Amino acid sequence: MRLMHVDASPKSSLSNSKMLSAYYVDLLKKQIPDLEIDYLDLSIDTPPHVSGDFAKATYTPASERTDEMKKVLEYSDNLCARVLMSDMLVFAMPMYNFSMPSSFKAFIDNLVRTNLTYNFLADGTTSGNLTRQKVIFITARGADLRPGLSPWAGMDALTPALRSPFAFLGVENPHFVDAQPLQFSDQTAREEALKRAYSELESIAKEWMS
Ligand SMILES: Cc1cc2nc3c(=O)[nH]c(=O)nc-3n(C[C@H](O)[C@H](O)[C@H](O)COP(=O)(O)O)c2cc1C
Repeated sequence: MRLMHVDASPKSSLSNSKMLSAYYVDLLKKQIPDLEIDYLDLSIDTPPHVSGDFAKATYTPASERTDEMKKVLEYSDNLCARVLMSDMLVFAMPMYNFSMPSSFKAFIDNLVRTNLTYNFLADGTTSGNLTRQKVIFITARGADLRPGLSPWAGMDALTPALRSPFAFLGVENPHFVDAQPLQFSDQTAREEALKRAYSELESIAKEWMS
């Protein structure tokens, strides 16, 4: 059993999202002692942004790529292989300006690859290849954007921005644990937000193990 654990907060031990993702991975490790963990900290190993050369190389059929094109795609090829060989994917990040940190967007831009993570079908539709992976997104938010509870809920551009590209890659029912409010609130609200997040993580871990 192999799990890929990806963190996107640039903070170290003080990061809420890192603390929550570590807690979740530990819950799984207790259940699966020989769980193989592939850890990626996007604030240290930040994926390259899409360049003009990348845009050209990615849509050139593999058999026609020059050595230069192959080199441009190397990081992305390697990232796709790591994700495809994982059985579980744990993605954690802070909300930045209502969406994701740019490092995680670069991660997605390197992961969505024709003939690797998705295929074009004969009828012109596409089919994603991340269908067997269990996926959880853990997000930390300073404000409270909970639907129905917060006037800010409509500003949440993070959830759909994660849901869409992964649905395109075949991830149908990812789990979301959104810890909020963790910054722009009083201490009691923060403590309750963390308590809710830990409890949701415990339920999802049980579900993954059943
Ligand atoms: C640059 C920046 C932008 C942020 N934008 C938002 C935001 O749009 N909405 C929000 O609720 N919190 C926002 N926050 C607060 C963080 O999401 C919050 O502090 C979160 O807990 C940080 O997670 P981390 O500790 O894992 O880094 C922002 C923080 C920073 C540093």
